[in-house]
Amino acid sequence: MAYFSLRRFGHRLLSTLRRLLRIRRTVEEDYRDFNGNYFSSFYEQERMLADPPRMEFYRAAIERHIRPGDRVIDLGTGTGILAALASRQGAACVYAIDHSAILDTARVLADANKLERVEFIAAHSTEFSVAGRVDVILHEQMGDCLFDEGMVANVCDLRNRLLKPGGRILPSQFEFFCEPVKVRDDRHVPFIWELKVCGYDYSALERDRPQNSDYYQCRSSDPTFVEHFLGTPAPALTFDLQSVDEATLPKSLVITRTVLHAGRLDGFVIFFRTRVDADLVLSSGPLDPGRAPHWGYRILRTEYDTFDVGDELEVRLTVDRWSNLDSWRWSHRKLTPPVAPATEPPTPTPVGDRATTTGR
Ligand SMILES: C[S@@+](CC[C@H](N)C(=O)[O-])C[C@H]1O[C@@H](n2cnc3c(N)ncnc32)[C@H](O)[C@@H]1O
Repeated sequence: MAYFSLRRFGHRLLSTLRRLLRIRRTVEEDYRDFNGNYFSSFYEQERMLADPPRMEFYRAAIERHIRPGDRVIDLGTGTGILAALASRQGAACVYAIDHSAILDTARVLADANKLERVEFIAAHSTEFSVAGRVDVILHEQMGDCLFDEGMVANVCDLRNRLLKPGGRILPSQFEFFCEPVKVRDDRHVPFIWELKVCGYDYSALERDRPQNSDYYQCRSSDPTFVEHFLGTPAPALTFDLQSVDEATLPKSLVITRTVLHAGRLDGFVIFFRTRVDADLVLSSGPLDPGRAPHWGYRILRTEYDTFDVGDELEVRLTVDRWSNLDSWRWSHRKLTPPVAPATEPPTPTPVGDRATTTGR
């Protein structure tokens, strides 16, 4: 009897330990595994290589900013294309790092193309080290939502440990956007509890709102999906990888827009721009001419709401960690117009702010 009780206790202890270990894995190690598998596929590499604005941006950036004799780290080399361009530019040595099995393909291609002065390293960047600091860190670590491939943590780690003072990060200047948006009517999908279909009412489902954050985000890479921004787009956040750190990024952003297009608000579209020179910009913005087409963008969905021209719309985005999209929360409200100075006693009926929150 004592033996069985002890065994049961042992099993319970083990499964609790397993559960605890699994929770600790979730955020970083699970993402690493996902990222490594995802980029091991030829198809994902093909989509990036066949994206002309992306490739032209990197080709020009490398041609302009990598000098003969530079020592370069290519963080996340994939098929090795950026390392190859850096070598062609005269880099003395390129350390081409990747944690995915795609690195075997990069080696095959390097042999076939007689690539010189490139050293391939199968490792996660945080485990890579080299004697002496390098002149340039080259990377393409931008996710659809800019932060979701761990760019800030990975680049800053290499910068702090291995970049010379005054060394270059290509690219380093970023603009992050979170713009109120209306999608085309024929593509708009309301939340299920907002629907009445052929007289059949779904509002009873409001109390069963899904708890998974993914449900509140809609993905697309089709630029025709977006009809317009409600206001004039402007970066919600700008930063430079030369100086930023994950810990110094704000955890809360407030964006206000004056509405220029009356009508429905469907959510907040997340996209980025990065700049190497004034005339060398790469964008994933759905309405930007020349956007890099392989990047998708995300719309943070909102419940039904409408605006008039001239309304002031305030959007709040808070995050626990930028790299963890599950930790993003957003809300918006219509700001009350300023009240004109009263010449008569104020009316007893207050004009309240209207606030809606999309959340779990
Ligand atoms: C977006 S792809 C870019 C590939 C290539 N640089 C290009 O521009 O075509 C990102 C690559 O980085 C790799 N990667 C992501 N994070 C990494 C890390 N921390 N250390 C090493 N490799 C990483 C992925 O496996 C993937 O091959």
